[in-house]
Amino acid sequence: MERSLTMELVRVTEAAALSSARWMGLGLQNEADNAATEAMRRVFDTIPMQGVVVIGEGEMDEAPMLYIGEELGTGVGPDVDVAVDPLEGTSIVAQGTWNALSVIAIADRGNLLHAPDMYMKKIAVGPEAVGKVDINASTLENLQAVAKAKDKDIEDVVAIVLDRPRHEDLVKEIRAAGARIKLISDGDVAAAMNTAFDDTGVDILFGIGGAPEGVISAVALKCLGGEIQGKLTPSNDDEIARCKKMGIEDFDRVYYMDDFCPGDDAIFAATGVTDGELLKGVQFKGSGASTSSLVMRTKSGTVRFIDGMHSLKKKPNLVMED
Ligand code: FBP
Repeated sequence: MERSLTMELVRVTEAAALSSARWMGLGLQNEADNAATEAMRRVFDTIPMQGVVVIGEGEMDEAPMLYIGEELGTGVGPDVDVAVDPLEGTSIVAQGTWNALSVIAIADRGNLLHAPDMYMKKIAVGPEAVGKVDINASTLENLQAVAKAKDKDIEDVVAIVLDRPRHEDLVKEIRAAGARIKLISDGDVAAAMNTAFDDTGVDILFGIGGAPEGVISAVALKCLGGEIQGKLTPSNDDEIARCKKMGIEDFDRVYYMDDFCPGDDAIFAATGVTDGELLKGVQFKGSGASTSSLVMRTKSGTVRFIDGMHSLKKKPNLVMED
């Protein structure tokens, strides 16, 4: 892949973030998501690559754009698989709370897991605890392993968990182990990334979230030297049938980093839509707007934080009206 693609991809997530941020706090999650999706799709037309969506907004018959199998880019440039989440945290934006992102991950063709759109059990950690946790081990064992790897007492370990009824037992187990918890309303991609940055104070992610988000988190963590493990959790006959159609028969299978994102070249880009621990959200002022983005590449290991100032006068279509 061309090195310059990293900057090109930031333009895509910036456009999606700028468009969806206008919907912050308006209680309209579909509108926020559509704004992000349309903006992202539009900018992809200018990116020099031959991309195919493997993680997107849905199947071709259910999503008007950024659907699985859709070709993206100018048609010139590297053959890549593309995973998109134009708005990761639709209800976060609707409510104006924390950590909504616009995200993209790309990898050389054939190097991103084609995960079905269903739930996945996940465990994620930053670099110090790589190789020390095991999704099949108990919550206590994993917390002890992270504490040891990070040279902390278990009482000082912070686990991040989506605040869902399905995590009631998990939360009890974490509390019983003596660790602390950060419950979040949404956004487990940002949560997984946070495990790789000391400043966030987050040590480990546990719980069940979207499988597509698992793939995107894996690319981010691969760039950051962290790790995620996942197990699909189909919950009905339809989901089991969908898995089987994709050749997935073993529901005990653990997906490791090399299953999510094999190969040695992948790029991850994210722009904050609302404020988070790592990225500030979009701020509008007069005819301008500022963005805060993160772009990283596995091959080089470079992690860049990029602040953008955008003139909405010169580029009015950076922000969609509806
Ligand atoms: P959306 O932006 O698609 O709403 O996803 C937000 C999210 O919180 C993800 O980060 C997470 O993986 C998933 O939803 C969890 O699903 P659910 O809200 O059904 O528990």
